[in-house]
Amino acid sequence: MGYAKVLVGVLFLFITLATTSAAFNCTTTKNSTCHSLVGYVSPNTTLLSSIQSLFQIKRFHDLLGANGLNASTSSNPTVQANQTIKIPITCRCENGTGVIDSPPEYKVIKDDGLFHIAAEIFSRLVTFQEIAEFNNIPDANNITVGQVLRIPLPCSCDEVDGVKVVHYAHVVQPGGSVDQIAAEFGTTTPILLKLNGMTSATDLQPYQVLDVPLKACTSNVNTSSLDYPLLVANGTYAYTANDCVNCKCSSLNNYILQCEASGLKPSSKTWSTCPAVHCNGTSSLYLGNVTTSTNCNQTFCAYSGFNNKNIFTTLATESTCPAGGPTGSPTSSPTSSPGSDASKTGMQGFRWNFLFISIQLIFLCFTLS
Ligand SMILES: *[C@@H]1O[C@H](CO)[C@@H](O)[C@H](O)[C@H]1NC(C)=O
Ligand SMILES: *[C@@H]1O[C@H](CO)[C@@H](O)[C@H](O)[C@H]1NC(C)=O
Ligand SMILES: *[C@@H]1O[C@H](CO)[C@@H](O)[C@H](O)[C@H]1NC(C)=O
Ligand SMILES: *[C@@H]1O[C@H](CO)[C@@H](O)[C@H](O)[C@H]1NC(C)=O
Ligand SMILES: *[C@@H]1O[C@H](CO)[C@@H](O)[C@H](O)[C@H]1NC(C)=O
Ligand SMILES: *[C@@H]1O[C@H](CO)[C@@H](O)[C@H](O)[C@H]1NC(C)=O
Ligand SMILES: *[C@@H]1O[C@H](CO)[C@@H](O)[C@H](O)[C@H]1NC(C)=O
Ligand SMILES: *[C@@H]1O[C@H](CO)[C@@H](O)[C@H](O)[C@H]1NC(C)=O
Ligand SMILES: *[C@@H]1O[C@H](CO)[C@@H](O)[C@H](O)[C@H]1NC(C)=O
Ligand SMILES: *[C@@H]1O[C@H](CO)[C@@H](O)[C@H](O)[C@H]1NC(C)=O
Ligand SMILES: *[C@@H]1O[C@H](CO)[C@@H](O)[C@H](O)[C@H]1NC(C)=O
Ligand SMILES: *[C@@H]1O[C@H](CO)[C@@H](O)[C@H](O)[C@H]1NC(C)=O
Repeated sequence: MGYAKVLVGVLFLFITLATTSAAFNCTTTKNSTCHSLVGYVSPNTTLLSSIQSLFQIKRFHDLLGANGLNASTSSNPTVQANQTIKIPITCRCENGTGVIDSPPEYKVIKDDGLFHIAAEIFSRLVTFQEIAEFNNIPDANNITVGQVLRIPLPCSCDEVDGVKVVHYAHVVQPGGSVDQIAAEFGTTTPILLKLNGMTSATDLQPYQVLDVPLKACTSNVNTSSLDYPLLVANGTYAYTANDCVNCKCSSLNNYILQCEASGLKPSSKTWSTCPAVHCNGTSSLYLGNVTTSTNCNQTFCAYSGFNNKNIFTTLATESTCPAGGPTGSPTSSPTSSPGSDASKTGMQGFRWNFLFISIQLIFLCFTLS
């Protein structure tokens, strides 16, 4: 009887190890952070500000911006049950995986269990095993009221096929397919499969957390700027330069980042007021102003970064022609080579072989004893 229990325990351990890795690969070596998004599916009808508290997002306008909601027209919108809200997080790469910079903290209340917290409160963006591991909880069935849990939301900063993207953690809903998800988020099935280490679209599991690369707008932000690389996903906007600048990304203008003065107060005490943002030489040419627009070329006053003292601008000429040219989008350098797919299959095969050999060894041990 005791042996059987040990066996079941060992098998459970193997199955657990084989199915719980939702963390995304992140191998960017630079010791810097990036913006990432996770898709939270609200379990009930609530206010956006409640979601802000759950994820401890410091500034409400960051949450509005991540969802493309206009701050002047939607002060605190109602979120419907099952509606997906994009949560902006800061990510850094550590030992090959993406780690959220300041994980939200959740305080355990009466009758909570780790599974309930992972699946129902955080809509399966993490597994209960990941919460247990991240918080060094030896027994997942033993959490105490008042205990504070840090929630390790998945993220990444990696380029995809050499293109900078914003990584979005998407929880696959029952009935979802890779093709449908690729179409919904403007990427392709081969890119999604490769990025998620899947060999076939039929491997997709309900509630799997998929790493989805969102097209980001190209910007003129300089490598020495404090917010480099400023990546803003299509359909969203973001505040930068201590909140003084607001940058919008839309596929409608060919993924060119459009920035303007935000009109907000600086979020950092190093600035008492926001510095003037106009292109040098002409004080009447403000950030975002277009000077000339010929054919589909546009010259405008573009944002190029900030430091502790100044906000920088540059006069940029960009093509707003309809797509066709190289626009720095993930689809412009598509598809995985057959070679890399074959090596993936090899890796997967190796993992499964390892599992089966281990199980057989365990049986062998019991037969011998
Ligand atoms: C990375 O940056 C953090 C803080 O920004 C610092 O504490 C850490 O030592 C750095 N690590 C490396 C390897 O440079
Ligand atoms: C919000 O709406 C106002 C008025 O409709 C508009 O002027 C402003 O540009 C919008 N802001 C964003 C970030 O879309
Ligand atoms: C939310 O979605 C789940 C599963 O997709 C469904 O069972 C549930 O009824 C939905 N709830 C609402 C309020 O639509
Ligand atoms: C990363 O790996 C190194 C060596 O394998 C280890 O010493 C370090 O603790 C790891 N860091 C994290 C954050 O896991
Ligand atoms: C909605 O669900 C969350 C998470 O389960 C819970 O904390 C919150 O109180 C609920 N809100 C309402 C209005 O029921
Ligand atoms: C549960 O954990 C607490 C401390 O975290 C410990 O004191 C207690 O003995 C544990 N209970 C069981 C049943 O393991
Ligand atoms: C993630 O990284 C591991 C270790 O480097 C590698 O074996 C695996 O193939 C990577 N997964 C994907 C999907 O690239
Ligand atoms: C970045 O901006 C700084 C300050 O404006 C400037 O000195 C530097 O030459 C710029 N670097 C590049 C690569 O444009
Ligand atoms: C980009 O966002 C706009 C809405 O701002 C949307 O209409 C369009 O379909 C999106 N494009 C992609 C490729 O996701
Ligand atoms: C604008 O240019 C002048 C000289 O060409 C320089 O002194 C001044 O600092 C520049 N201003 C900004 C905001 O870059
Ligand atoms: C230039 O930008 C400023 C500030 O965003 C705006 O108030 C002004 O209307 C713009 N001028 C033109 C000609 O677009
Ligand atoms: C501007 O337009 C001309 C032709 O109309 C084209 O040759 C040139 O490459 C364009 N420049 C940019 C930066 O798009």
